[in-house]
Amino acid sequence: MAKARVAVLISGTGTNMAALLYAAKADDCPYEIVLVASNNPDAAGLKLAEAEGIATFAHSHKGLSREAHDDIMHEALVAAKTDYVALAGYMRILSPEFVGQWEGRMLNIHPSLLPKYKGLHTHERAIEAGDSHGGCSVHLVTAELDDGPILGQTPVAILPGDTSDSLAARVLIAEHQLYSRVLSDYVARETSPDFLVQQVRERAMALPEADEVVSHGMPCFGIIKGKKFAYVSLDHHGDGKTALLVKISGPDEQAQLIEIDSERYYRPAYFGDGWIAMRLDLGLNDWDEIDRWLARSWHAVAPKKLAALAEFIA
Ligand code: GRF
Repeated sequence: MAKARVAVLISGTGTNMAALLYAAKADDCPYEIVLVASNNPDAAGLKLAEAEGIATFAHSHKGLSREAHDDIMHEALVAAKTDYVALAGYMRILSPEFVGQWEGRMLNIHPSLLPKYKGLHTHERAIEAGDSHGGCSVHLVTAELDDGPILGQTPVAILPGDTSDSLAARVLIAEHQLYSRVLSDYVARETSPDFLVQQVRERAMALPEADEVVSHGMPCFGIIKGKKFAYVSLDHHGDGKTALLVKISGPDEQAQLIEIDSERYYRPAYFGDGWIAMRLDLGLNDWDEIDRWLARSWHAVAPKKLAALAEFIA
């Protein structure tokens, strides 16, 4: 299994970046660091990354609009064939365009137990509020600052006499542990059968009159009292694959798809020429495209009246 390609964006010391990088040295780590990039050419973390043989990129934001700078960073990320972006002390507010380009693929670490204390001075605010714990959170990045679904958190006890610096130092230890673990789980999830079935399920069941049954051990989606339009093949006869099976126009299309991408598409055993199997366990699925495959397959089996009604509602 190829490792997920992660780029880390930093502005300063980059100790979280270092933690991600050292964790990635383990053979079984599901990600690799392919780029460390910064808006600050003097960021100490760049030198460390270079010394570790990681590609680096720096471009100051000074004199540039937010969008123009984000575009430059985006290009560097694309050039490095980045799959996921990890923000690690990247002190920039991001444009909605940039956030949109990396939706679901950009994580951030924040030194508080979100949703408490978004923004700056988190430790000071936790101490002042008399909280028993500070801590850190890893979350997906959305357009709102320090918002977005929380993927993991570690609480850190506040000690009597703690200052914001002493607490920050302990929280940083927790950050270093948390970030690589959460990032690993997040990138690995895209190849886990449970996650993949759930993604297909949500999409298939959103189609009109859809229902789910189990057929030969496979989750299978059809129209109530009607025909099936999708199956998820799970380790069929121990082939180790997770694949979505949908209807297609026939043998020509089947052959064409397999020719275009023989790693991803294959002829599903026992299903004949009217179906194609597409592997979901290769990582980085285009779920919008899968939505279209499911809708098309649904249309291929839906009774005319129902299809017309669905068109009408849409
Ligand atoms: C960390 O506290 C992180 O939570 C916050 O910025 C700090 C970056 O520290 N987003 P470092 O550069 O990783 O050492």
